[in-house]
Amino acid sequence: MTRVLVTGGAGFIGSHFVHHALEAHPDWQVTVLDKLTYAGNPANLEDLEGQARYRFLKGDIAIRRDVQAAWDGGVDLLFNFAAETHVDRSIGDPEGFIRTDVYGTYTLLEEARSRGLRAFVQISTDEVYGSVPSGVSREDATLLPSNPYSASKAAADRLAYSYHATYGLPVFITRASNNYGPRQYPEKLIPLFITNALDGQPLPLYGDGLNVRDWLYVADHCTALDTVIERGTPGEVYNVGGGNERRNIDITGRILDHLGVPRTFIRYVPDRPGHDRRYALDCGKLRALGWTPRHNFEAAIDDTIRWYAAHRDWWEPIKSGAYLEYYRTQYRL
Ligand code: NAD
Ligand code: TYD
Repeated sequence: MTRVLVTGGAGFIGSHFVHHALEAHPDWQVTVLDKLTYAGNPANLEDLEGQARYRFLKGDIAIRRDVQAAWDGGVDLLFNFAAETHVDRSIGDPEGFIRTDVYGTYTLLEEARSRGLRAFVQISTDEVYGSVPSGVSREDATLLPSNPYSASKAAADRLAYSYHATYGLPVFITRASNNYGPRQYPEKLIPLFITNALDGQPLPLYGDGLNVRDWLYVADHCTALDTVIERGTPGEVYNVGGGNERRNIDITGRILDHLGVPRTFIRYVPDRPGHDRRYALDCGKLRALGWTPRHNFEAAIDDTIRWYAAHRDWWEPIKSGAYLEYYRTQYRL
């Protein structure tokens, strides 16, 4: 059995990866270590309860004894998804981002250094490159993160690399573009706008709505991680993009049209400070290893909209209580 530790496995991408891992790798024994912050949701993993090759541990990657407890019995592969992930929250209160994204990664790296493992996969982001007005970022591009979230992810990305360069730890770093799909916390653009449209609420579009992101379907992200550990080289960085550059306004229009909601529901709100205009990746390095994204954006976003429409039981409990407080403070709507 291959012993696999997935941190942040109760979140959006982590929970997809845990399901993928158990299905695609019958020889993997998966432990999830997750603090269950506001973004961590036990419902994302509840269908796995009782499976012999799966266990869940509640714990914090920034607390060494929690990491040690997760390491009991050994770890062969570690996928570090655990992070504070929302740019807007990082602008309001950066501290938790430094603690989890930077110090938490450090804690995992230290445990890995003392106990050893076969692969440490640091899930980084295309946001570490900062805004890319034209062209595409290759893995050797300068890192120019421009908000506390992307800066803390860049720190973790380079700290992970330093453990390879300095201590020979088998670190792999992936920089994925914006993910979308089922079970994404409804603070991010796509799930927020779908659920607002379903609820007859306005869709708060920042600035002129012309910012561009490259969208990656979450299942394609999971297969990219397989390729990286199967065929990648330790110490290397791999961009993971969907090849779907879209303007926010166009995504908004597609969601509204799909749900038959008029454009008058778009509410232009003041821009996010330090808002990166565009992200775009050159993914030639990972494609050369045989990976390619399989999901067509238009089909996959339509599926995603249908999923949220059919799973109000998943998102309605989230959009209450502390979420509403966050929402009102953030948007003043
Ligand atoms: P998410 O916010 O949905 O989930 C994060 C998970 O981490 C939650 O389950 C949360 O409880 C857990 N967590 C937070 N702090 C923790 C701590 N101190 N200890 C243990 N667990 C903790 O995030 P996501 O969108 O699934 O992103 C997962 C990873 O992928 C992150 O590292 C993020 O930076 C990276 N990433 C995300 C995207 C994207 O578009 N969402 C794109 C590229 C990279
Ligand atoms: P987001 O989902 O927060 O991801 P990121 O900032 O990490 O790329 O935002 C995606 C894009 O959508 C980004 O350009 C900001 C924009 N956006 C809005 O216009 N309104 C919103 O309410 C949110 C959350 C995002």
